[in-house]
Amino acid sequence: MNFNFTEEQLAVRDAARDFARKELLPGVIERDTKERFPAEQIKALGRLGFMGMMVDSKYGGGEMDTVSYVLAMEELSKIDASASVCVSVNNSLVCWGLEKYGTEEQKQKYLIPLASGQKIGAFCLSEPEAGSDATSQKTTAEDKGNHYLLNGTKNWITNGNSASTYLVMAQTSPEKGYKGINALIVEREMEGFIVGKKEEKLGIRGSDTHSLMFQDVKVPKENRIGANGFGFTFATSVLNGGRIGIAAQALGIASGALELSLKYAQERKAFGVEIAKHQAIQFKLADMATEIEAARLLCLNAARKKDRGEEFAKESAMAKLFASEVAMKQTVEAVQIHGGYGYVKEFHVERLMRDAKITQIYEGTSEIQKIVISRALLK
Ligand code: CAA
Repeated sequence: MNFNFTEEQLAVRDAARDFARKELLPGVIERDTKERFPAEQIKALGRLGFMGMMVDSKYGGGEMDTVSYVLAMEELSKIDASASVCVSVNNSLVCWGLEKYGTEEQKQKYLIPLASGQKIGAFCLSEPEAGSDATSQKTTAEDKGNHYLLNGTKNWITNGNSASTYLVMAQTSPEKGYKGINALIVEREMEGFIVGKKEEKLGIRGSDTHSLMFQDVKVPKENRIGANGFGFTFATSVLNGGRIGIAAQALGIASGALELSLKYAQERKAFGVEIAKHQAIQFKLADMATEIEAARLLCLNAARKKDRGEEFAKESAMAKLFASEVAMKQTVEAVQIHGGYGYVKEFHVERLMRDAKITQIYEGTSEIQKIVISRALLK
């Protein structure tokens, strides 16, 4: 594998790094504490082209590759995983899905404002009783001729209250199982659409996670993505791409923790020397750096495969599985290196540790990634 980055890719990485340090770092602790969505920062990321990175410029996107997306996601996530999950969902699950599977009319109406950062999108698959088991959709989209009548509840929806455009999976023909599911584009203004309770979370507390309710929402037929019954295939297809974004988020959380640990270990003295001079700390730093590098290679491998138009479901699941496990394990180590300081907000690593946990859960738990990987191996 040749991972010599192009000048463009490095410029994207540097722009994301610069933005994260200048615009995301100030206030990140306060947003976490007060559960405040980084609205201004997301608007600024939109103006800089980070909300529709891989979309064609004719639809308001940045026409960048997935490798650039991974590099940007790592940099943003080092500092603020609450902001970066909004970026990831908008890019991977919403914009990429609309560009790949939407009609020209849908792209003109919905993709352009989403890719250019004027609006935010949300992806609505999870339900109170359908998280990992996503084929068991209870939300219904009854076929009424020229529209669908949408009824049901979605849970844990990222960007739940900040989005304007929602891609909603719902069951139209239960007798057909997952082949009866449709993906519908729902607008926030549609009658019967209700933003429900905001979740109070362990981590990514700046991200607005809500339940959503649909009560007899009339969704025009032209808002269906793909053919009748395509909804589940749509969801799994965009999730394959989304998992690269979340893998890169996990990578960023872990590498942010490593950067802080390296700095701290060279400043903090114990037993007369900087703690970096103690082998106990050196071993931890070496393990962190090695696992993070392996996670980075898996993320870039999945991104490269996607950019080349090759099959990448297995590789994106591997990247997400491994990077999220590394993020969880190594942020715990970062707290340990920081000792008592690691347990207080000011030093950031406790937040990174809390944020890391969600990367093992959303867009499919670690166990779901293993199902995706093993099915690809056995097929
Ligand atoms: N890529 C492509 N196709 C896939 C696929 C994948 N990763 N996973 C499943 N499929 C296809 C299967 O091939 C099958 O199609 P065919 O019958 O045509 O072959 C079809 O989908 C149904 O699959 P299964 O029969 O295997 O269904 P299952 O119920 O046994 O398993 C599952 C499906 C893989 C477990 C799936 O339910 C799944 O991925 N669950 C996790 C859901 C998830 O990731 N949710 C995330 C919510 S969004 C989110 O978190 C966003 C956020 O906030 C950040």
